[in-house]
Amino acid sequence: MTDGLFPLRRERAEVAPGAVHVPGWLSVERQRELVEACRGWARGPVPMRHTALPGGGVMSVRTVCVGWHWQPYRYTRTADDVNGARVARFPAWLVELGRAALVEAYGDDGGYAPDTALVNFYERGARMGMHQDKEERSGAPVVSLSIGDRCVFRFGNTETRGRPYTDVELVSGDLFVFGGPSRFAHHGVPKVYPDTGDPATGLAAGRLNITLRETGLS
Ligand code: SIN
Ligand code: MN
Repeated sequence: MTDGLFPLRRERAEVAPGAVHVPGWLSVERQRELVEACRGWARGPVPMRHTALPGGGVMSVRTVCVGWHWQPYRYTRTADDVNGARVARFPAWLVELGRAALVEAYGDDGGYAPDTALVNFYERGARMGMHQDKEERSGAPVVSLSIGDRCVFRFGNTETRGRPYTDVELVSGDLFVFGGPSRFAHHGVPKVYPDTGDPATGLAAGRLNITLRETGLS
């Protein structure tokens, strides 16, 4: 990416205490592997779909879950709001990736044992309103990996959905970890910039985001 004649410098930043943005953490090769894995999960055993909201609407992103199935606002082993199937098991390599992300962000994996991943796909016009990830019973960090189109990721505070917040640009390959005092901060994706991804990742269009979490459930 360039900014006029000069490359746009994107630097690692602690956006809030415990919230760390690491630009360009995933190699293109790693992104390709993740895109392939997500394509597999999107096919089944529970197909990727627009999650139905209790108010009658649907989310604009399409989602598939791994390990545990999330629906507003709980986790279950079976996707009772989709096809009743048990979700794909959470693979050991994804635990390792989560631990490596924590080492990168904090210098220590803290015994991280993620057991669920929410894979969100943003087609043109999709966005995500400000919310907290709070269905987990564990206070372990959330690891977020982005592939494809770049976006504005709005990272706020634990008290309200509004200000103060910081807008961070997430680009394909970026890592964002939020834990500690920021674990229950509100966050959302108000904007995705179409056709800004790199087809070399295997994603021709759209934005893919994978969040790893510890549910604290058994
Ligand atoms: C999420 O909050 O679950 C997804 C965030 C993102 O797409 O970056
Ligand atoms: Mn979230």
